[in-house]
Amino acid sequence: MKKVLVVYVSLTGRTKRMAEYIAEGLRFAGLEAVVKKSSDITAVEDLAGYDGYIFGSPTYHRDMAGPMKNFLFLAKGAELKGRLCGAFGSFTHSGDAPAMILETMEYVFGMEPISLGSFNLKEALVGTDEGMRSCHDYGRAFGERLSG
Ligand SMILES: Cc1cc2nc3c(=O)[nH]c(=O)nc-3n(C[C@H](O)[C@H](O)[C@H](O)COP(=O)(O)O)c2cc1C
Repeated sequence: MKKVLVVYVSLTGRTKRMAEYIAEGLRFAGLEAVVKKSSDITAVEDLAGYDGYIFGSPTYHRDMAGPMKNFLFLAKGAELKGRLCGAFGSFTHSGDAPAMILETMEYVFGMEPISLGSFNLKEALVGTDEGMRSCHDYGRAFGERLSG
């Protein structure tokens, strides 16, 4: 069974919730999904052994959250080249972080971004059925792309 690692940063819990729903979507597509906070990843070895990677951060001050930057510096040392990747995050108005993360995954790590691109969810939708469904859809689409 193919395995996907979802790593998130979340200051007030919304991006964390997205991570859990995206993981459910991956499981609906028949994949194994592991969800971790960025601070749980302390060594490059923690990133080994997955077929796909999805990283998430909310947008703060038109940027990704600081811990996601530190995590990406660590991830630079892992062998992620050619792996399928996605990115997500909660936001209120500009939502810059997911696109920045996906760019780093593609252009710095040499990963292959999912054709859907990055996934932003307005914070007002995070606790709704509609928000949950769109997270499920992103996870499911990623899973189907990985298994197909
Ligand atoms: C100080 C501060 C700055 C923020 N800056 C932005 C911003 O530049 N763009 C944006 O879209 N949202 C911004 N937000 C909104 C957050 O992205 C939003 O609250 C998000 O849901 C937080 O996610 P989290 O619960 O995973 O931490 C900001 C929020 C705070 C408190």
